[in-house]
Amino acid sequence: KDIIEAPILIIGSGYGGAVSALRLCEAGKKVLMLEMGLNWGESGIPFSNMLKPGKSAAWLKNKTIAPFMNIFSLEPFTGTLDRMDFDNINIWVGRGVGGGSLVNGGMAVTPKESYFKEVFPDLDPEKFYNHYFPLVHKELKVNVIGEQFLKDCPYYKFTRVGEAEAHKAGFKTVRVPNVYDFQYMEKEYRNEVPRSAFNTEVIYGNNHGKNSLDKTYLKKALETGNLEILDLHCVENIKLNDDKTYTLEVQQTDTSGTVISDKVFNCKKLILAAGTMGTLKLLLHSNAVNGFPIHEQIGKNWGNNGNFMTGRNWVKPLSGGTGAKQSTIPVGGIDNWDDKEHPFFTEIAPLPMGMDVATALYLLINRVDKKGEVSYDSTKKNLSLDWNQNHTTKMRENADYFIKKMNRANGGTRSHFLFNNGFGADVCYHPLGGCVLGKATNEYGKLKDHENLYVLDGSLIPGTIGVNPFVTITAISEYCMENLITQNEFA
Ligand code: FDA
Repeated sequence: KDIIEAPILIIGSGYGGAVSALRLCEAGKKVLMLEMGLNWGESGIPFSNMLKPGKSAAWLKNKTIAPFMNIFSLEPFTGTLDRMDFDNINIWVGRGVGGGSLVNGGMAVTPKESYFKEVFPDLDPEKFYNHYFPLVHKELKVNVIGEQFLKDCPYYKFTRVGEAEAHKAGFKTVRVPNVYDFQYMEKEYRNEVPRSAFNTEVIYGNNHGKNSLDKTYLKKALETGNLEILDLHCVENIKLNDDKTYTLEVQQTDTSGTVISDKVFNCKKLILAAGTMGTLKLLLHSNAVNGFPIHEQIGKNWGNNGNFMTGRNWVKPLSGGTGAKQSTIPVGGIDNWDDKEHPFFTEIAPLPMGMDVATALYLLINRVDKKGEVSYDSTKKNLSLDWNQNHTTKMRENADYFIKKMNRANGGTRSHFLFNNGFGADVCYHPLGGCVLGKATNEYGKLKDHENLYVLDGSLIPGTIGVNPFVTITAISEYCMENLITQNEFA
């Protein structure tokens, strides 16, 4: 096999990977990025919407896997949405050039400063709140919906109802910024441009409107001429060589998942940005198969960011209702974080099923009091996760408190339509931790016990951040890259 040499190699093209690529390319470095998913922009294949799932709907599955929508048959294709199933939790992730930014709802939430300080006691909050978070807002093109548009638009009835009901129950609501371009959205409402948010597009990709990473960080990095991205290239394992360089075994596939080429890459500097679960899998699997050295902190301090899904049904559909037409882009949240007994933040989530299902959906984000741990199961040749009901007891109590209070004030029942027992403790969109900053790595993401290996993705955050995480992942990556470059790590 030919060996392909690359001085700096990045695995994965999500938030951490995209920030690393841009800052290295701007510093004049040649960078090679390997991404197991498809480059959708280059492929010319459109994303499918939720009501007509097609090629982009799932990663090599013969049925859709989106929550509540897993009833459609599919031809296996390297789609954008993947799900990893563990005993007590299912974890959804994005695949493709842009990683999670392709599938996510675009909610761009800055963590509460008090909680950020608690989670990252060693970081300088002033630097983050005055520099890194504003920088990330600008680069990711974060914006806020116009209040008048929100008030008038029939596609946001679910938000207006959700907010009014929350107020009636005594909860505080907040406006949630997003990377979806709300100017574009206003135009799509007036039918001046093709529809995306108003055409049930999200979670399998957005054809318009959403500023995913391929339109922001990655686009800028490519414009420098220093970045090359190879899509449909999955890294299988990593070896450490005697001269402290790395050798990667990589499978190139076609869009049906068939391996078309086995390749070997050598690199001097390696950045793992494969997402929390992807990075942990690479480290733990390589350790199991070829003795790849890993620090004892790898896999520890993992959490689901307190994700807990729940919902409410109205007894009589006509007495409530969130609207048959729904935008896919959430813009409202309920902030109960400062309640000592029941601290949580929840998104007022859309449920764009094409009809009024008289159901309100909420993705709660709670504190993670008890962390989980990720390890490697050599018999199953896969990750195993120490995560069970004990880890989610308090989250469940919060969800129960929230739903009961909402129902008492507004009517309605716990949603048995969406979940077996009204609760979705097993739904996780925000896996975090396992390679925690300052524990498994040095203060800037360089892995302990290694000289040329870095981690830049959600695994740096110790299992919880109190809000949707991509703004924090991006800001931490900016902070690490700035310092790593200043320290001449990539000279
Ligand atoms: P990310 O997961 O983005 O990227 C990793 C990339 O590495 C992927 O493209 C993957 O294919 C690739 N990769 C993995 N293993 C590989 C290998 N072995 N070889 C090559 N490539 C490999 N967050 C938020 O803040 N607001 C929101 O609204 C939402 N909404 C939301 C909805 C849904 C449905 C999901 C699934 C997730 C969200 N999120 C979210 C979460 C957010 O998308 C997530 O936290 C980030 O994408 C994580 O960024 P990372 O940089 O860690 O990796």
